[in-house]
Amino acid sequence: MSELEFPTDFLWGTATASYQVEGAVKEDGRGRSIWDDFCRLPGAVRHGHTGDAACDQYHRYPEDIALMRELGVNAYRFSVAWPRIQPEGTDPVNQAGIDYYDRLVDALKEADIEPMVTLYHWDLPSALQEAGGWPERSVAGRFADYARRVFDALGDRVQLWLTLNEPLCSAFLGYLEGIHAPGVRDRRLAYRAAHHLNLAHGYAVAAFRDGAYSGRIGTVLNPWTPRPATRREEDFQAADSAADGHTRVFLDPLLGRGYPERHLAAYPDIELPIQEGDEEIIATPIDYLGVNYYTEPVVAYDPEHPEGFRLCEQHQTRTAMDWPIVPAGINRQLKWLHEHTGGMPLYVTENGCALEDQLSEDGDKCHDPTRIEYLRAHLAQIKAAMDDGVNVKGYMLWSFIDNFEWAKGYTKRFGIVYCDYTDRRRVPKNSFYFYRDVIAGFE
Ligand code: FCB
Repeated sequence: MSELEFPTDFLWGTATASYQVEGAVKEDGRGRSIWDDFCRLPGAVRHGHTGDAACDQYHRYPEDIALMRELGVNAYRFSVAWPRIQPEGTDPVNQAGIDYYDRLVDALKEADIEPMVTLYHWDLPSALQEAGGWPERSVAGRFADYARRVFDALGDRVQLWLTLNEPLCSAFLGYLEGIHAPGVRDRRLAYRAAHHLNLAHGYAVAAFRDGAYSGRIGTVLNPWTPRPATRREEDFQAADSAADGHTRVFLDPLLGRGYPERHLAAYPDIELPIQEGDEEIIATPIDYLGVNYYTEPVVAYDPEHPEGFRLCEQHQTRTAMDWPIVPAGINRQLKWLHEHTGGMPLYVTENGCALEDQLSEDGDKCHDPTRIEYLRAHLAQIKAAMDDGVNVKGYMLWSFIDNFEWAKGYTKRFGIVYCDYTDRRRVPKNSFYFYRDVIAGFE
């Protein structure tokens, strides 16, 4: 049996996010989001790039879906832009925004491609940030209202839902490190944001259950499960403790285990604004977990660090993001999650790499052998984890197309389709044909 032979009901897809691919930010009544604003702060995004035009998927989705047909995927993970649905972050609903996703979902269904919809991939309506953003509790309730609007509009056709994409990044890159929108640097606010993101997720899942929609719902985390530098017990301890802030702060409340005490004890200045009943809401049962995996860090014991670990050097080849390529890490992470969640169904909702891709001289090809190797190795490790009993239901490659890579602008190319940013021309890379062959069972 080939190392890439997956079950016949495996979900094969690619992933994108609204602000990264849609463009058309001023069309059909879309409101402003925190990313529109952040891109305008001097020095925030490389070269002052913005998502104003991005890949223009808003207009070119029929062409993209035709390419997906050629690829042979049976799923497409995309996100709904909250400011298209509620330009001010609250009602009234902007019908033209709903209409766009109606068209997109219909076109996907027509092509036999299952829509997998993320409700929040970082484009918070600016009006809500002006009212305090995620550190403000009311935003969690707003999110549930918005989610209901989307369930009502698309719930008759969408069967696979995801609430938030990587709340870790929204909370910690957005409100602690300030390198993502809204660009705040405040530990106290960051943890308030983290709790309210968890709460928003819980409210949305509860709304989904109350509405008795027919599909299934989960969320997307980017777990951080570092490996110890050596076999010394203290390094194992360090690796375990390193998973607290990045992973357990988001995963454990979902599983009804509350926040990791050890982590909170390391930062006495943090106060989580937990109110009575919050923990039950956050733990509203989900149907599956989405996992985004790009790399695996290495840590060693360090008594100087509040959480007792430091990051170590790694030998592996790095992608254009400077992330070491560690395929075995996805196997270890999936197993860790399998054990930690008691066997919850998992979807790999993102995996892929940025490289210095270039078009061939004639402009109609793009050779990306390193991406093919990256994908082959990661898929083989996913399959190996499945052979060992981990319940992985699908794989969404990041990304369908090169796109706006947040603070790095358009300088990082993650796509299996090349996007020529001068004219938005799409050119499938070699990895596109590799992925087609994997899906068809010929690799
Ligand atoms: C993830 C994001 C996704 C993309 C990849 C490279 O953290 O969810 O939007 O930018 O990284």
